[in-house]
Amino acid sequence: MFSEQNLKKIDELRKRYPTSKALVLPALWMAQQQFGWISPDTMKYVAGLLDLPVHHVYGVVTFYTMFNTKPVGKYHVQVCTNVSCMLRGGEELAEHVCSRLGVKLGENTADQKFTVTEVECLGSCGTAPMMQVNDDYFENLTNDKVDKLLSEFT
Ligand code: FES
Repeated sequence: MFSEQNLKKIDELRKRYPTSKALVLPALWMAQQQFGWISPDTMKYVAGLLDLPVHHVYGVVTFYTMFNTKPVGKYHVQVCTNVSCMLRGGEELAEHVCSRLGVKLGENTADQKFTVTEVECLGSCGTAPMMQVNDDYFENLTNDKVDKLLSEFT
C-alpha cells in the first residue's frame, strides 16, 4: 500500500527509532501525504506494518487534529477557535470562512476545492486569530484578509 519510496523511508526510520510505537507518527504522516487522509484501511495497514494493535493507531489518529479521518479538499482550511483566537474573534472568523465558501464546519465544498475544519490551538496564539491552510499559517486575520486570501487559492 505504501509507495516503494515510503517503504524505504520506514526501513530507514526503524534504525533511528527505539520502538515501533515511536514510528507511528512519522508513518501516519507519510500515509496522509501519500493518500490525503487516514482511512480505517490505512490505520490497519500501518498497524500491520509496525506490528501494533489497530486500536493504538486509531488512538493516535483520532487524538491529533493534524490527521484527516475524512477526505479533504485541495485546500484544507483549519480555523483555530481556542481561547486566544476565540477572544480575538476566531469563532466569528470560522463562521465567515464557512459563509464565504458555503459550507458548515467539517464539510467540503461541492467542487472538493476547500474543506473547513475547526481546530484547537495551533501554537500561534500571539498572532490570533489565525488559521492554517494546508501547511501554511495565516495570522492576525480579519474578514477582509480572509476574503482576499481565499480568492487567491485557485
Ligand atoms: S488559541 Fe489559536 S493559535 Fe493558540
